[in-house]
Amino acid sequence: MATSTTVQFKNPLEDLERQAKTVDPCIMVIFGATGDLTGRKLLPALYNLASDGELPAHFACIGFARRPKSNEDFRNEMRKAVDSYSRVQPVDTNTWNSFSESIFYHRSEFDDDKGYEELRNLLDSLDQRLGTQKNRLYYLSTPPSYFAQIIEKLHKHKLLYEFSEKSQPWSRVIIEKPFGHDLTSAQQLQTEITHYLNEQQIYRIDHYLGKETVQNLLVFRFTNPIFESLWNNRHIDHIQMTVSEDIGIGTRGHFFEEAGNLRDIIQNHMMQLLSLVTMEPPNHLNAASIRSEKVKLMDAIRQYKPSQLGSNIVRGQYGPGIINGEQVLGYRQEKDVDPKSDVETYVALELFIDNWRWAGVPFYLRAGKRLPKRATEIAITFKRAPAFIQQFDEKRTTANILVIRIQPDEGISLKFNCKVPGLHAPLQPVKMDFLYGAYFGATPPEAYERLLCDCMAGDNTLFASVDEVIASWKLFTPVLDYWKAHPSTNFPNYAAGTWGPSESDELIERSGRQWRLI
Ligand code: BG6
Repeated sequence: MATSTTVQFKNPLEDLERQAKTVDPCIMVIFGATGDLTGRKLLPALYNLASDGELPAHFACIGFARRPKSNEDFRNEMRKAVDSYSRVQPVDTNTWNSFSESIFYHRSEFDDDKGYEELRNLLDSLDQRLGTQKNRLYYLSTPPSYFAQIIEKLHKHKLLYEFSEKSQPWSRVIIEKPFGHDLTSAQQLQTEITHYLNEQQIYRIDHYLGKETVQNLLVFRFTNPIFESLWNNRHIDHIQMTVSEDIGIGTRGHFFEEAGNLRDIIQNHMMQLLSLVTMEPPNHLNAASIRSEKVKLMDAIRQYKPSQLGSNIVRGQYGPGIINGEQVLGYRQEKDVDPKSDVETYVALELFIDNWRWAGVPFYLRAGKRLPKRATEIAITFKRAPAFIQQFDEKRTTANILVIRIQPDEGISLKFNCKVPGLHAPLQPVKMDFLYGAYFGATPPEAYERLLCDCMAGDNTLFASVDEVIASWKLFTPVLDYWKAHPSTNFPNYAAGTWGPSESDELIERSGRQWRLI
C-alpha cells in the first residue's frame, strides 16, 4: 500500500497543462456490493491501485448490501474475485492482506433508516481508526430504481455534506448507468437528486471514458495537426463505429430485459465515443470546457423524423448459433429472459451532424451481442482520389482509412495505396500500424482504476455531465417509443456468430457504402 497520506495523480488530458491532482484519504461505500460489478471491476480496480501505490494510505471500502454476511465472508469473496479479475497477476498475498484490512461489510435494506444510522457510526469509527478525514465516496451500483432513495437517505442521515469549491471534508456520489431509462425519467432523476447534491458532487460513470484508447482520442486529434486539418467534411467521406461483442447475456438477463442494446451501449458508450471523435477543440483542457464542447456536438445531431424511425435505425436479436466453434443459445432461451422477448441485442443506425464541420458526412454506428468477435473500433474513411487518378488501377486503389482500435489490439492504423515493386506490378493498399502493446509494453490501468482515482481527486472530466445524458436521451427516446409502439415482427433475425441482421447491411448499402470487415 502507499505510504504517504495523499497520492499525486495525473489526468492524462491535463498532462497537457502539466497539472497534477491529489487523491485524498477517504472511505468508499459501495451500495449493492453483492452485485456483479463489485467483484468483477470495483474491488480488482481498488486492489490494483493499492498494489501500484495509487490508493491513499488512509482508505477504507465498505460494501453495503441486503444479504447477511460478515466482514470475513465479504473479504474472502472479494479475494476470489480479485484472483479471477485483477489486471495485476498473481495477487500478492502481503499486498492483499494489508489491503483487505480496509474492506468492511455492512448489511442493510436500502430504505432502512436504522441501517443508515449504523452506517454513520461505522464511518465515524473508521475515520478515527484509519484517519480517513471524513471524506466520502458513495458508489451506487444498485438497480437504478434505488438511486434517488439512497441519496435521500444519505441526506437525511447527514451523510452528505454541502458542496463548496474548497470543501473539506467532501462527499461525492458515483452513479452507474443507465441514468434514467428515457428522457422523462432521466430528467426526473436529476431533479430528485439535485435536491440533495450539487452537480459537482455527481459523477455519472461511463467506463468507456476511462479506457486509455478513449482518453487518447483527444490527445490524438488535438496534438497532431496533420490529422486535425483533415478532420472535416471536405476530406472525410464517412465514419463507421462498431462495438461488437461475442458474449451473450450471461447472468444479466433481468438487467438486459429492462435495458436492451440501445440503452446499454449506444445511448452512453457510443455517444461518448462519437462526441470525442467529432467535437470541436475545447478552449481549455478542463472538465467544463470539454463537457461543453461535447454537449454542443450532441445538440447538433439531427433528430430523426418520425418517418425515419423504421428505416434509419435497425434493431436485431440473436437466435441460436455458433461462436468460436461452440453452439450457443438464442437470446430468448437465455436465463431470466422472456421466451417471447422483444428486446434488441443489436442496433445499427445512420446519423448526421448538422454543423459546419460535419454537414453531409454520414455516421454509421453498430453495436451487438453474440457477433463473431469482440472488437470496438472507429473507422474514418477519407474521400477517394479523383476519378482520373484512379485510372492507375481503379479496382485496386482504396480510400485512405484511419482506424482507431479501442479494444482489443489497441492501436491506430492508416491504410494507403502503394506501388508494388516491379516493372509491371499493380497497386496495392498497405497499412501503417501502431500497436499500443508493442510500443509501450506495460498493461494500461483498467478504466475503473482511472475513474475511481479521478473521483477521489475531485476531477469529473471523464464523467458524463447531465446535459450530455439529456441530449442523448432526446435523440433516442423517440426511437424507444417507436419500437414500443411497433414491436418487432421478425425476431430473432440474426444467428449468434454472424454480423447482425441483413437490414443492417441494407441500411449502409443504400448510400453505396459497406460495413468494414473486422
Ligand atoms: C457495459 C454493458 O456497460 O459494457 C455491458 O452494460 C457490456 O453489456 C460492457 O458488455 C462492455 O464493456 P467492455 O469494457 O467490455 O467493452
